[in-house]
Amino acid sequence: METQHQRLLIIDFGSQVTQLVARRLREANVYCEIHPYNRVDANFLKSFAPQAVILSGGPASVTDPDAPRPPAELWELGVPIFGICYGQQVMMDALGGKVESGHHREFGRAYVEPTGAHRDDPLFHGLFEKGREEVWMSHGDRVTRLAPGFEVYGTSPGAPFAIVGDPVRRFYAVQFHPEVHHTPNGRILLRNFTRLAGFTGDWTMAAYKDEAIRRIREQVGDKRVICGLSGGVDSSVAAVLIHEAIGDQLTCVFVDHGLLREGEAEEVVTMFRDNYNIPLVHADESELFLSALEGVSDPEEKRKTIGRLFIEVFERHARAVGDVEFLAQGTLYPDVIESVSVSGGPSVTIKSHHNVGGLPEKMGLKLVEPLRELFKDEVRALGRELGLPERFIGRHPFPGPGLAIRCPGEITREKLAILRRADAVFIDQIRKHGLYDEIWQAFVAILPVRTVGVMGDARTYDYACALRAVTSVDGMTADYYPFTHEFLGETATRIINEVNGINRVTYDITSKPPGTIEWE
Ligand code: XMP
Repeated sequence: METQHQRLLIIDFGSQVTQLVARRLREANVYCEIHPYNRVDANFLKSFAPQAVILSGGPASVTDPDAPRPPAELWELGVPIFGICYGQQVMMDALGGKVESGHHREFGRAYVEPTGAHRDDPLFHGLFEKGREEVWMSHGDRVTRLAPGFEVYGTSPGAPFAIVGDPVRRFYAVQFHPEVHHTPNGRILLRNFTRLAGFTGDWTMAAYKDEAIRRIREQVGDKRVICGLSGGVDSSVAAVLIHEAIGDQLTCVFVDHGLLREGEAEEVVTMFRDNYNIPLVHADESELFLSALEGVSDPEEKRKTIGRLFIEVFERHARAVGDVEFLAQGTLYPDVIESVSVSGGPSVTIKSHHNVGGLPEKMGLKLVEPLRELFKDEVRALGRELGLPERFIGRHPFPGPGLAIRCPGEITREKLAILRRADAVFIDQIRKHGLYDEIWQAFVAILPVRTVGVMGDARTYDYACALRAVTSVDGMTADYYPFTHEFLGETATRIINEVNGINRVTYDITSKPPGTIEWE
């Protein structure tokens, strides 16, 4: 089925920040998709039928004969086009302007002013209220002659063609990056472009929910679907959405690997089976996993053991559900964006992530991925729209291998029990102090050392633990959270008093990089 909303196409030329363009547009209630330049040909343009196009930045130089370029048909589509940095250069180069290679590199903050003739242009609605706008420049090449039909809309001291436009064709281009944080009003500029391209801002979660439900019904028909529930936001939202679409044709399989947090398994079961009446298989496989992990202390071996068993167990339970044709997954948009590889080389594996890749082919299942167009915060908005409780929606991420990777060294049932208690106290402290939503992720790791302490008059010889709490936007980089000393002191006291088995508490103040968020 065709999607109902207006669509904007972002052509990616390999900028590090292309995803931010999409974020800014989605915030302006515009539906957009990112596609790499080498996948966008005339046929693609025809089938995608964008109502406007944005050309991203990128590391190449259009003065290079092999530089990435959009297909010539793009300029004949008759829709508004907006070029950013490299996108501006590609536009000028293709339409008869001139770009020169960089003796004049420009990085960092600059101030743009509108030219008199265009001060009141709809592109500038709500902008330049204080005369000039701060923008972020990052380019080597620059445009030295405009293509015919273009006029200068804005200049900066270092960039005579900071903003240019052809009002007849509605082609616009900027030398700076409006999508980044450092261009504070860049989002307004992008929004204005979409509005003058005729976008009404029809991308809302309420509308999307109805559309997604219709699409699921159409894809699945009267067949049956299984969904692996982890208790995390993505799989929970996917499950509730699919249940709304097809009711009891959906069965959820919740594999409890014995590495969940305190009360987590009960919470998932209560929520889905009891509150939502979603058919749910609660597979308590903790014995299987914990026995397989006995004696394993290498982090990669832990991850691989858990990943392999998870697939085996999931497959067994899924087959037991009976005649199923589809597997639902909570895949998100950032996982499906095909990025232009700038370096070309394969990136190094830091950690083997836990996923069920390969399972659908093996079981002959088709995939239902109702979240694959959404960013994480949109998934949360959809969850709210579906009435999921805030406690579920706002949850910190939790890794697939669970507590196994928060228990460096050998995993024992004893250590897991201590870790669960300590983690619950830490999270309780964070909630009580109203800090939960400011923190990307917080947890306790139990360390594989015992230390000497004194409680009352007696000597203790118990485990040490580390508290970890970080802020982050996407988990790719992170900073440790700056708790007050009072908070840390109070938390340490509570953990030592309330958790048998821990007599020393430390706080991990490593950022990522060089650390990672999890300990393994
Ligand atoms: P690291 O430790 O690599 O973690 O800085 C980044 C984010 O990813 C989560 N994480 C995982 N999530 N399966 C997952 O679903 C995994 O195997 C996995 N390992 C780490 C981690 O919790 C953090 O949010």
